[in-house]
Amino acid sequence: MAIQTVMVIGAGQMGSGIAQVAAASGLNVLLHDIAEVSLHQGITRLTKSLGRSVEKGKLAEEEKTSILGRILPCAQLDRAAQADLVIEAIIESMEHKTTLFKRLDDLCRPHTILATNTSSLPITEIAAVTGRPSQVIGMHFMNPVPVMPLVEIIRGLETSDEVFGQIRDLAERMGKTPVEVNDFPGFVSNRVLMPMINEAIYTVYEGVAAPEAVDKVMKLGMNHPMGPLELADFIGLDTCLSIMEILHDGFGDGKYRPCPLLRKYVKAGRLGRKTGRGFYTYDSSL
Ligand code: 3HC
Repeated sequence: MAIQTVMVIGAGQMGSGIAQVAAASGLNVLLHDIAEVSLHQGITRLTKSLGRSVEKGKLAEEEKTSILGRILPCAQLDRAAQADLVIEAIIESMEHKTTLFKRLDDLCRPHTILATNTSSLPITEIAAVTGRPSQVIGMHFMNPVPVMPLVEIIRGLETSDEVFGQIRDLAERMGKTPVEVNDFPGFVSNRVLMPMINEAIYTVYEGVAAPEAVDKVMKLGMNHPMGPLELADFIGLDTCLSIMEILHDGFGDGKYRPCPLLRKYVKAGRLGRKTGRGFYTYDSSL
């Protein structure tokens, strides 16, 4: 069955970005969040993002209006019964995700595919709490979603070829480039990215160089658009720590040991841009 209606759960930075690109590709989107204020902020964020595209002449005002018209904010999770696909983008907690997926399994129609935007939690474990593990899949978008072309598509142990094909085609329809990966800790993106960020933090911790110097080396020497510490602040230091812990636990290998300085910053509430302070200080939180 063709995917026409998508429910995005979680209206944060990732969820609102996913809702925006899904609606821009012509899909009907139900955007759900348990917190009304987050739902409101999510709609404001994506409206601003579309507004910037209009100002730059990349999008016509009428197109913006029709994209927004395809996004329905909804406070009730029960509306998942209308969706052909649900994309979950809530906090990175296995407990929260499995509780939600159990609920979705009850609410959704039999054909509905359940996708998670998790950055590193095991898809197979999330799928196992549902009665439809062959229809559970990882759809890992990158931040900022409207800009980054990649969607990592993660097959759980039981994900069917048919479901994989539908999600790959949908990602392309959303203007993204899908890359197929299997379900192992950190998948590919965060297994490669996070140890680099963690190592950059170690260089600061060990006094090898200041954060600005580390970032300059990677930007000017390796042509990265952001240095690893600037990127860590952008992603959120709590998210970086949680992914390093998943890698460390999942592989049991000391090479993934989170840097003590990362732990210290997270404990201090220096989470990066969202709290106004991480490796750098920001004027206001995003
Ligand atoms: N939302 C929407 N659009 C945005 C945006 C946002 N938050 N931030 C920037 N943009 C757009 C700008 O409007 C601009 O669009 P235009 O080309 O149409 O004019 C374009 O992106 C470039 O932005 P800027 O000129 O303002 O700034 P930069 O050239 O410095 O680019 C950046 C900003 C795209 C964020 C760039 O610095 C970059 O690519 N950084 C690395 C991002 C990255 O690595 N993301 C992956 C993080 S890991 C992840 O998400 C996985 C997770 O599991 C942890």
